[in-house]
Amino acid sequence: MKLNIVCIPGDGIGPEIVAEAKKVLNKVANLYGHEINYRDVLLGGASIDVHGVPLTDETIQAAKEADAVLMGSIGGDAATSPWYQLPPNLRPEAGLLGIRKALNLFANLRPAVLYEELSDACPLRKDISEAGFDMLIMRELTGGLYFGERYTTEENGIRKAVDTLVYNENEIRRIAKKGFDIALKRRRKVTSVDKANVLDSSRLWRKVVEEVALDYPEVTLEHMLVDNCAMQLVKDPAQFDVILTENMFGDILSDEASMVTGSIGMLASASLNDTKFGLYEPSHGSAPDIAGKDAANPIATILSAAMMLKYSFDLDQEAAAIESAVKKVLEKGYRTGDIMSKGCRRVGCKEMGDLLADEIK
Ligand code: IPM
Ligand code: MG
Repeated sequence: MKLNIVCIPGDGIGPEIVAEAKKVLNKVANLYGHEINYRDVLLGGASIDVHGVPLTDETIQAAKEADAVLMGSIGGDAATSPWYQLPPNLRPEAGLLGIRKALNLFANLRPAVLYEELSDACPLRKDISEAGFDMLIMRELTGGLYFGERYTTEENGIRKAVDTLVYNENEIRRIAKKGFDIALKRRRKVTSVDKANVLDSSRLWRKVVEEVALDYPEVTLEHMLVDNCAMQLVKDPAQFDVILTENMFGDILSDEASMVTGSIGMLASASLNDTKFGLYEPSHGSAPDIAGKDAANPIATILSAAMMLKYSFDLDQEAAAIESAVKKVLEKGYRTGDIMSKGCRRVGCKEMGDLLADEIK
């Protein structure tokens, strides 16, 4: 099979982790007889440095022509990087939001799984972590507070800032369908997370999700308020299968879910539209403090590449080969710094990539 992949190495640790993901993909391609064409494009700070803007038409066009996009991470240290002297709509993050919107990537899938081998890195009490967990956060990605009208003004000498949270029923319906569809392939439970005791947008969310649920009688639906969900994620994460939620809640809950797996360095993600096309990126940021030091954990990006094989190319076996290589390498006791524990061997980003590529055979 021919795979046309656009790569966005991005900023910070991005180029390092994408290089390791390519290493692993190349190994898979060799072994299973696929041909991969890569095209690297700029986004975020890297694009600002060259073009003065975080996202260009050229990058959008290249992504549209590809079968899938593999991304590292974007952004820098807000306190020190000159990128953050620019107006907000020209900063690195605006590039990421812009490409999500331009490609209509409304469904963001973030699986959070506790690997047995990493249970020592899990910050939860043993009696909780012992039960294990395997959840998927289905985050709406192109609406809500991230894309509503926003402005900062001054009224009678008082500074004021406004962000607006808007959802229409179509936006809610299409993400809810994605959530229920994926639940059918998992443990058939959807927890829809909202703040319906306060927000109108959440009350509409709840209604529309209930309407969609009628078409999925095999799936159990429950509603949970977002504050309670934040608590339940540390109290009893095993209860969750699919968490379906809006953009901002999903941003926050997915960081929390990843942390209880031991490290945000393990959490992959897929951002999908209604076709096979997708953008795949780790859920973590660009970690500028460790950039260029060969210290990053490439596993989240490599698992994102596995999601790409599965969702954009239907190469389930190849994806499974990557996932089992991750398990084996962890089993053998190799760890990057973020998941290091006693008795294990600490390796850098490159060595982790080599180990994973070698394990695919
Ligand atoms: C994420 C990130 C982004 C988001 C930032 C970088 C804009 O935190 O992908 O979770 O908030 O969506
Ligand atoms: Mg986030």
